Amino acid sequence: MKRILLIEALANSGPYLLDAARALGAHVFVATHEDVWESYPAALREKIHGTVFTDLTDPGRALSDLTAFAGTTRIDAVAGCWEFFTPLVAHLASRLDLPGNDPLRAQACRNKAAMARAFRTGRVPAPRTVSGYTTAEVTRALDRLGIGFPVVVKPAEQGGSWGVSVVTGHEQLDAAVRHAQSWPVAAPHGLALDQRVLVQEYVPGPEFSLDTVVWRDEYFHLPVVEKHTTDGAYRAETGHTCPAPLPPATLTAVRAAAERALRALGIRNGVAHTELKIPPEAGPTVIEVGARLPGDHLVHVVRHASGIDEARAYLQAVLDEKPDMPEPREGACAIRFLTPPRAGTFRGVTVPGRPAGLIGRHITTEPGATVGGAHDNSARLGHLVFTAPTPAQVKAHAAHVLAHTRIEVS
Ligand SMILES: Nc1ncnc2c1ncn2[C@@H]1O[C@H](COP(=O)(O)OP(=O)(O)OP(=O)(O)O)[C@@H](O)[C@H]1O
Ligand SMILES: [Mg+2]
Repeated sequence: MKRILLIEALANSGPYLLDAARALGAHVFVATHEDVWESYPAALREKIHGTVFTDLTDPGRALSDLTAFAGTTRIDAVAGCWEFFTPLVAHLASRLDLPGNDPLRAQACRNKAAMARAFRTGRVPAPRTVSGYTTAEVTRALDRLGIGFPVVVKPAEQGGSWGVSVVTGHEQLDAAVRHAQSWPVAAPHGLALDQRVLVQEYVPGPEFSLDTVVWRDEYFHLPVVEKHTTDGAYRAETGHTCPAPLPPATLTAVRAAAERALRALGIRNGVAHTELKIPPEAGPTVIEVGARLPGDHLVHVVRHASGIDEARAYLQAVLDEKPDMPEPREGACAIRFLTPPRAGTFRGVTVPGRPAGLIGRHITTEPGATVGGAHDNSARLGHLVFTAPTPAQVKAHAAHVLAHTRIEVS
C-alpha cells in the first residue's frame, strides 16, 4: 500500500485527489493545521487516512515537521492542491528525494512577480509586466517600458480573480492598486501574502486553459478547455467548456507555449494548470501557471468530456509511475457558474424543468444570504454542469438553460 502525503486537502481539487488515491489503492495523510482541520467537512475527513499537524505559514518549521513525519510513516509521494503551498511541496519532495518540481524555482509558481521574471528569462510568450508597492512606483515602471493602457492590475499573490481589474486610463490606476492590496493574508491558515502589485499589458482575445501532467520531464497534455469570463473591469470566470474546438496548428502552438512556461518554472514532475489567451493575429500568450490541479471542478468537467482522470494521472506522476493518459473519448462537458445579477439579498434560483444536457445543479448559497456584485469568483451562488456529444451542442444547452434560469435577488 503506497502512502501519499498531501499538503492541505481543503481545496476544490481535494476530494478528486482523495478519490483518485483510493482508486489507486493508496493511503493519503494530510498535512494541515489543527484549527483548520476542525473546519474540514465530515465528507472530506472520511476520505483521509491520517493527519499531521504543523504550521503551514512557517515553511521552515513545516519542512522539518513534515520531513520527520514522512520518515516515520514511510511516505512514498508528496502532493499538493493549494497554489500557495506548491513551493513547500517542491521543497519537501526534494528533501525526501521523491519526485517533484525544482525547489529553486518553485516560488515562481506561487508569486506572480517571480513568475513574470521566470517567463522573461525563459522567453515564454507572456504579457510585459511591472510590479511595485505603490501607484507611483508602477507608473514609473510602465513609463520606462512604454506600456500604455489598457493594462491589467493584480495582486502578486492571490487567486480566484480577487483583486484583478482591467484599467483603461491613468485616473483608475490608484484605486485598482489599492483594490489589489485588499488581502494581506489568505484564509484559512492566515498565510501572509506579498503586497506587491503587478501591472501587465492587456492581452485581447479568447481565453483557454490547458492542464499538463509531467512525469520525469515528459509532458502529458489534457484537452484544452475554453474559459468564459465577464468582460469589463472585472474578469470573473462564468464557466468553462471542454474540449475547446481548436484547429490542430493552434493546439500545437498552445501546447508549445505551455511547455515553455513549465520549463521556465521548473515543473518537471507533477501537474500544471496553464491559462492562456490567443490575441488576434498572434500566438498563444501565457497569463499564468499553477503547479497544481485546476479549481472550478475542472477535474470533473475534463473527466466527463474526455474520460481522463487528471487527479489519478497527477498522483501516478508523483508516485513515479507512468500516468494513465488514454486518447480522449468523443464528448463535451461544460460548467456554468451562477452569479447574482446585482448586490442584495439572495432569494433563490429557478432552473427550468429537466433541460437537455443538464447533469448537475449545485446551489451553494443559502436563501437570505447577502450577495455582492460579480467582481471575482467569491460572488458565485452555485453551478450547473452539462454534457453533449460536441462542444457546440453543450454550449447551446448551457446558453438555453441560463437564458431561462431565474436568479432572484431583492
Ligand atoms: N494580462 C492580461 N490580459 C488580459 N486579461 C488578463 C490578463 N491578466 C489577467 N487577465 C484576466 O483576468 C483573469 C484573472 O487573472 P489571473 O488569472 O491572473 O488571476 P487569478 O486570481 O489567478 O485568477 P483565477 O484564479 O481565477 O485563474 C484572467 O483569467 C483573465 O481573464
Ligand atoms: Mg488565473
